[in-house]
Amino acid sequence: MSGNVVMQVDHLTKSFRVHQQKANSLKQFIAARGRNRYDEFIAVDDVSFDVREGEVFGVIGQNGSGKSTLLKCMAGILQPNKGAVHVHRRMGALLELGAGFHPELTGAENVYLNASILGMSRKDIALRFDDIVEFSGIPAFIDQPVKTYSSGMYVRLAFAVAINVDPQLLIVDEILAVGDVSFQQRCLEKFVEFRNDGRTIILVTHDMNSVKNMCDRAVWLEHGKITGSGDPGELVDAYTEHMLGQNNRRHDGSIRRGSGEIQVTKVELLVNGSSEPVKRCRTGDSVVFRLHYESSKSIPQPVVAIEIESLAGALVTSPNTRDVGMVPQNMSGNGIVEVTIPRLDLLPGTFDLHTSVTDFNRAHNYDHLQTALRFDVMAGKPYETGGVVTLRPEWNLQ
Ligand SMILES: Nc1ncnc2c1ncn2[C@@H]1O[C@H](COP(=O)(O)OP(=O)(O)O)[C@@H](O)[C@H]1O
Ligand SMILES: [Mg+2]
Repeated sequence: MSGNVVMQVDHLTKSFRVHQQKANSLKQFIAARGRNRYDEFIAVDDVSFDVREGEVFGVIGQNGSGKSTLLKCMAGILQPNKGAVHVHRRMGALLELGAGFHPELTGAENVYLNASILGMSRKDIALRFDDIVEFSGIPAFIDQPVKTYSSGMYVRLAFAVAINVDPQLLIVDEILAVGDVSFQQRCLEKFVEFRNDGRTIILVTHDMNSVKNMCDRAVWLEHGKITGSGDPGELVDAYTEHMLGQNNRRHDGSIRRGSGEIQVTKVELLVNGSSEPVKRCRTGDSVVFRLHYESSKSIPQPVVAIEIESLAGALVTSPNTRDVGMVPQNMSGNGIVEVTIPRLDLLPGTFDLHTSVTDFNRAHNYDHLQTALRFDVMAGKPYETGGVVTLRPEWNLQ
């Protein structure tokens, strides 16, 4: 915890000019004396913290709370209005799609632009150029303008640049939500490698589990201000509690949040081929979780996920339809999503099932139903007396 400070964010404030509506009559235009009038919108408000060597530092907060703006200032892509960012190490940045790359320039030109923003000399870039292109896996497209790239190609190139500037400090904004599973895996492996090297990572993600698991410290932004900082476990719990409090708690104990264009209305548990919904089953049963949904409009490329959590708070599993490549072009009207688990290897206890429907990037939440179903698992086969799941061990005594 006592590593050297590698980045200091010092009373950083960033505001944007938001134009008021344009004059739509000559009279208004004259009244405004031809000037464009604007309001100042403060996206990051007097934020200060230090990041130390060898730590994974998380930034959490709701959409629009200023995380990306803060990270862009830290990466030198945006200039703050007040305050400063002091960087003491070579930095790489994987920011949200659109930041750092210029759409009209080619991939190759963007490599030069981006790497030089990140502090590499032209000569060094030339030496690394082939590595970067090879790492990106898109050599055939490197002389095309990046505006023609798919989001996957874009992220690959951005990642290749960020990794190859040999950064001591890496800034990552939600990039894991984009790209395929094997690419995400590769990124995560790189992060672990980085951290083990004693390098520093600054991470924005919606995935509260990776904040808890990966981060050493974190800050929580709310309307551009820091509302909490410190231990990621405590911070995530406070944040989650806060988010839940803002949403409607329902009579059956479930809690709903999300924008609501599609909603899971109920979840039923069916056991061993029966069509009668129940609230309990046994270890080893064949079960079906049947999710009923209703949508008020057509949802493009929705991803449906469930989570099963023990009463003690262990997240046992959280599969989703995107991981298995099952993403329809659209989902609309009312219907059913069935999740079949041929052999339920949960051990006796009480479990909560949560559901969610998100967009393809899993960034926008249409619906999240916390405790959509609470069910009990009774002793079955195999029978074990400890833990949450059975791994069906085979014993051999010699
Ligand atoms: N270039 C910009 N011009 C005007 N407003 C912006 C700009 N970039 C971000 N904002 C606004 O600043 C706020 C914070 O945005 P952002 O930093 O992207 O938040 P987050 O990453 O936490 O979702 C939002 O209200 C957003 O609309
Ligand atoms: Mg953002």
